Amino acid sequence: MTLGDHTGGQLRRLCEVAGLSAADAGSYARLLVDVLGPVADRPLTVPPPNRTFLSDDHTPVEFSLSFRPGADPTVRVLVEPGCGTDRLLEAGRVGLAQVRAMARRWGFSTASLDEVGDLFLPDTPQGALALWCALELPPGGVPRVKVYLDPAASGAEHSGATLREAHRRLGHLRAFESLPEADGYPFFALDLGEWSEPRAKVYLRHEGLTAGRVGSLVRCAGGGEERAMVEFFRAASGIEESDAGLTGRPGLSCHAFTDAGSARPSGFTLHVPVRDYAPHDAEALARAEGVLRDQGIDGDPLARALGALTPRRPEDGVGLIAYLALAHQRGRTPRVTAYVSSEAYAVTPPTDRASLAAAAG
Ligand code: TRP
Repeated sequence: MTLGDHTGGQLRRLCEVAGLSAADAGSYARLLVDVLGPVADRPLTVPPPNRTFLSDDHTPVEFSLSFRPGADPTVRVLVEPGCGTDRLLEAGRVGLAQVRAMARRWGFSTASLDEVGDLFLPDTPQGALALWCALELPPGGVPRVKVYLDPAASGAEHSGATLREAHRRLGHLRAFESLPEADGYPFFALDLGEWSEPRAKVYLRHEGLTAGRVGSLVRCAGGGEERAMVEFFRAASGIEESDAGLTGRPGLSCHAFTDAGSARPSGFTLHVPVRDYAPHDAEALARAEGVLRDQGIDGDPLARALGALTPRRPEDGVGLIAYLALAHQRGRTPRVTAYVSSEAYAVTPPTDRASLAAAAG
């Protein structure tokens, strides 16, 4: 079994769970193998190609299912095209070449990426990643493409300046000033290709996040998001008290900018790393099902998706569900996303309840 066979097979089965045709499922699985490049041929018996933090076991692929009421879930896949190397410069070149190849293949523009490329892919890159690529996989076989870049690429101490300049070039002049306080800026992301409203997104890290603070992170104009986000935070983290915080991996907020000229983001997403706050995946799945139910969404496809990824029982490991997220985008119904792992190389054993409780206390 190779990395390409393993992750391609998982993607094909996930697509079928999500109601895509066998033809679409097959062509998306081939696309993933193409984007992985030569590392797709590595047998799973040799170690992961690099030390990527894209997933906990260094699989350079992570899946997600995005849910809205009354519709089939959308399958997405996050991949590190440059995972054949640990050198950021080389990884960035490979990643950019893959994105350009997809742009030629489907005839979309990379103009926004070209506009800011020098900021995030400099000649002497720093930071934690070069370029990740996420593909949203609708029926029809044509993916929607997103790229993820590192605000620390020109030095962690310059992350704020890098983001401010990127937003300025894209016409979001006062975007950075509108963001809440953060403990770091892990990602900057751009939608490329055929999106109805392409977004520039900034991800913020929040150490020790509490339910009491969640509402204050929301910056998009609208109404009622704060309450929904607080409820979601409680349900996903399992932390009921308003002043008890996340003691493991931090929460992330994501702020989406779509209209040049507006000082405020039009979208807000809260990401909870549920794998650090649940003893095993049966519990993570139960939380996810609760969150979906709260939004009026059928959780059944998620349970089937886990079965499409692995034959192991959910209670026999933790991290198959890595994150849960709730997204509000102006003018749309809220979306719930579950990020699910490939576990190509390793399964994290369940955490015993006593040590979870100690961490939470
Ligand atoms: N694995 C990394 C993390 O846990 C990056 C990552 C992968 C991530 N998928 C994600 C972050 C989804 C937020 C949401 O931070």
